[in-house]
Amino acid sequence: NGNYLVTLIPGDGIGPEISRSVKEIFAAAKTPIEWEEVDVTPIIKDGKTAIPEEAITSVRKSTVALKGPLATPIGKGHVSLNLTLRRTFNLYANVRPCRSIAGYKTPYEDVNTVLIRENTEGEYSGIEHEVVDGVVQSIKLITKEASERVARYAFTYAQSVGRDRVTAVHKANIMKLADGLFLDVCRQVSKEFPNIKFDEVLLDRACLHITSDPSLYAETVMVMPNLYGDILSDMCAGLIGGLGLTPSGNIGRDASIFEAVHGTAPDIAGQDKANPTALLLSGIMMLKHMRLTEQAANIEQAVFKTIAEGKALTGDLGGRATNSQYTEAVIKNLK
Ligand code: IPM
Ligand code: MN
Repeated sequence: NGNYLVTLIPGDGIGPEISRSVKEIFAAAKTPIEWEEVDVTPIIKDGKTAIPEEAITSVRKSTVALKGPLATPIGKGHVSLNLTLRRTFNLYANVRPCRSIAGYKTPYEDVNTVLIRENTEGEYSGIEHEVVDGVVQSIKLITKEASERVARYAFTYAQSVGRDRVTAVHKANIMKLADGLFLDVCRQVSKEFPNIKFDEVLLDRACLHITSDPSLYAETVMVMPNLYGDILSDMCAGLIGGLGLTPSGNIGRDASIFEAVHGTAPDIAGQDKANPTALLLSGIMMLKHMRLTEQAANIEQAVFKTIAEGKALTGDLGGRATNSQYTEAVIKNLK
C-alpha cells in the first residue's frame, strides 16, 4: 500500500535494534506501513558531512520518516546530521510532548506538557566567527517568517489536541530584539485564534514553575525559540523518567521526521539491552500524524500497560529485561 510508505532511518549505535523492535510491534499491530529503509551513514562531500542522496530521495517521496539516533563524526567540518536533516527538509516545528507514565514512578505524577520548538534558526543558525583572538560571536537569528509559521503551528496544534491555551516562552526582557520579535509575532498570530487563550512566560520562570508544579502547564502548548526548546524539553523529559520515554516529531510543509531524541548509546549497542520506547512513542506520534489512529491507540495502550506491569522493563527503567523481551511483552499486550 503505497499510501503508507515510510522512510526508516535506523541510525547508529542502538538505532538498528530499537528500529527492529518498532517494526516487529507495528507488524503485530497490523499497521499498513510499508517501510523503506535507508542508510544515513555520513558521506563526506566537499570536505563536509552530508546526507546520502538516496536517503533524501526516499524522504521526498514518502514525506514521512521514522528516525533512530545518528552519531555526529567528531572533528572540524562535521555538522550534526540530525540538524542537517531538519534543515534539508525545512522541518520548522519540533513537537515534544511529555506525559507521566503510570507505573513508572518519579517524584512527579502529573506531568503533561507539550512543547513546540522553532526548529530552523535561532541559536542553531550556525553562524559563528572569531572577531579577534579571544573574542567570538555566535549569531542568534530570528526571522518574522519562521516565528510566524511555528507560532501558527502551535495554535493549530493546540486546537487539534483540544488544549485551550498557548504559552510563548521567551527572554524578551534581555534579548529585546530577537525574543521581542518572536513574542510580538506570537501575539499577532494569537489574534487569528480567538478560541485559544494566549499568555507569555520568561524561560527561567517556566523552569521554576514546571519543576515546582508541572500541572500548571498541563493545559497549554508552549512555543519558543530553538535553543530554549532544546533545553526545556530535556528538563521536562527528566520529570517523567528521561529521554528513553519521550517522543518527538519534526514537522515541515513537505515532509515530517519523527525521532527519538536520545543518543546512540554506543556502550550498550548490539547487546539487546536498549529501551525502544522513545522510538516506539515517536512511531505512535507518526501514526497519529498519518491518521492511523486506531493502530496508534492500540500500540500506545500496549506500551503503557507493559511499563505499568513492570515485569519486562529494560535496565534504564530499573528492570532486567532485554529489548527483545520487552518487545515481546508489548506485542502480547496488543488488543
Ligand atoms: C535534540 C538533540 C539535538 C539538538 C542534537 C543531537 C543536535 O539534542 O534533538 O534535542 O540539539 O537539537
Ligand atoms: Mn536536545
